[in-house]
Amino acid sequence: MQPLLSAERLHKTYGHGNIFSDVSFTVNPGETVGLFGMSGSGKSTLGRCLIGLERLSGGRVVFAGEDIARLSASRFRKLRPAMQMIFQQPAISMDPRMHLFDSVSEPLAFHEKRGRPEVFASLFPLIAAVGLRPDQFSCYPNQLSGGEIQRAMMVKIYSLSPKLIVADEPTSMLDMSVQAQILLLMKELQKKNNTACIFISHDSQIMLTMCDRIGVLGDGDFRMMELDEFAGYTTELRL
Ligand SMILES: Nc1ncnc2c1ncn2[C@@H]1O[C@H](COP(=O)(O)OP(=O)(O)OP(=O)(O)O)[C@@H](O)[C@H]1O
Ligand SMILES: [Mg+2]
Repeated sequence: MQPLLSAERLHKTYGHGNIFSDVSFTVNPGETVGLFGMSGSGKSTLGRCLIGLERLSGGRVVFAGEDIARLSASRFRKLRPAMQMIFQQPAISMDPRMHLFDSVSEPLAFHEKRGRPEVFASLFPLIAAVGLRPDQFSCYPNQLSGGEIQRAMMVKIYSLSPKLIVADEPTSMLDMSVQAQILLLMKELQKKNNTACIFISHDSQIMLTMCDRIGVLGDGDFRMMELDEFAGYTTELRL
């Protein structure tokens, strides 16, 4: 099987030094690969680099057979819906000045050149699947709970039928019970759509339930581990 994404010898430095180097791994369609590491180890930076939101200092990312750094602007725009990111803080994932209705239907309306009301109506099954009601989308983000915003975010992202989602600690700001519900929902949607995921977390238990393999970042090094190896590694570190 041809991998969906191939990270080849990725390297990133900021002004003050090396964040990671020689990061190589592949992600197959439908697979969930974790990125684990302490705070500041470079997980979010790597996640952003993988979908072209940030430039690498070296190496290349091949997505669906194409080197994403070499795409023309128009080709990159076309590929954009296929690569989505869920961010750490629900509060910044939706524009506070827009009704959820507009935030959620805008990307698909833009890509398919359709009107927002028509797009929104086509999302009703997905809205029901995440456990929300269409009328809740007439609110601004600050009128909903963090868990509800993350559910609305799932609607926005899955409406685009992405092939890959980079989920950057999508539940770290939510309480335990809501966290479990959202993670379960993500797993169901992923399975149904055969979506691949790069799942970022510093919670080793969550990683073990969500991921098929886990890449560990630390001190600029990167190591891909199978789940049993990762379980042993985190037990040893008493994480
Ligand atoms: N735009 C930037 N410019 C300069 N340095 C940055 C930038 N973004 C991140 N960094 C630095 O890169 C390092 C890695 O940051 P990153 O946010 O990727 O870590 P992380 O593993 O996601 O941490 P956390 O678990 O706290 O979210 C940090 O030292 C951070 O200060
Ligand atoms: Mg981070």
